[in-house]
Amino acid sequence: MGTGTGMEMVPEVKNPKIQNNQEFVMRDFINIENFVSDEDCQEYIDHFDDMHGDGYRRTDDDAPWFNDRVVCFTDTNPEIKKKLWQLSYSYSGVISNFYKEGPIYPETINICRWAEGDELGLHGDAKYYPNGEDNYVYWRSHSVVTFLNSDFSGGEFYFHTGHIIEPKWGSIVGFDSSVDHAHGVKKVTEGFRYTVAMWFTMDEKYRLF
Ligand SMILES: [Fe+2]
Repeated sequence: MGTGTGMEMVPEVKNPKIQNNQEFVMRDFINIENFVSDEDCQEYIDHFDDMHGDGYRRTDDDAPWFNDRVVCFTDTNPEIKKKLWQLSYSYSGVISNFYKEGPIYPETINICRWAEGDELGLHGDAKYYPNGEDNYVYWRSHSVVTFLNSDFSGGEFYFHTGHIIEPKWGSIVGFDSSVDHAHGVKKVTEGFRYTVAMWFTMDEKYRLF
């Protein structure tokens, strides 16, 4: 695991648009521990492993490089689907309360596995970093990552501000999908890192259900 939640990994923020954004508050994100039970975390992990053991390939085949990393909501079994559906609506409520906006609808839900060597650079979920322009899923408004396990090394989640979130079994991090909350994942150095990634939208056109 990493070195705590200090500011020792502060990436340089070069974009004046971000630096001058008066609305941006350093701790303007959600981080809650023990949101999901150990049993549920293990069920999601087991389901991911079962699917891949059976040679799962994403139904949605436009991004084959995700095949070994992602199980889509639509491909999960009915029991897992129900749990994820309930979870997504509890997250919608948490986000609405925190950001004082809504209604917020689930848009995409994935169970993800990050293997040794996997990492992800700084990005906004709906905007490009650092210029803040719309990306190909610009309709996303909020994001929530659920950490399903802790028994791996590396893989810390970090914001461009330098805040680091240690992945802890059952904990969540939630934030708006703009470039103000640009974030990345440090390289996984040992083991598998499992998460449930959820994105939300305020545009009914793109709601998942
Ligand atoms: Fe992201």
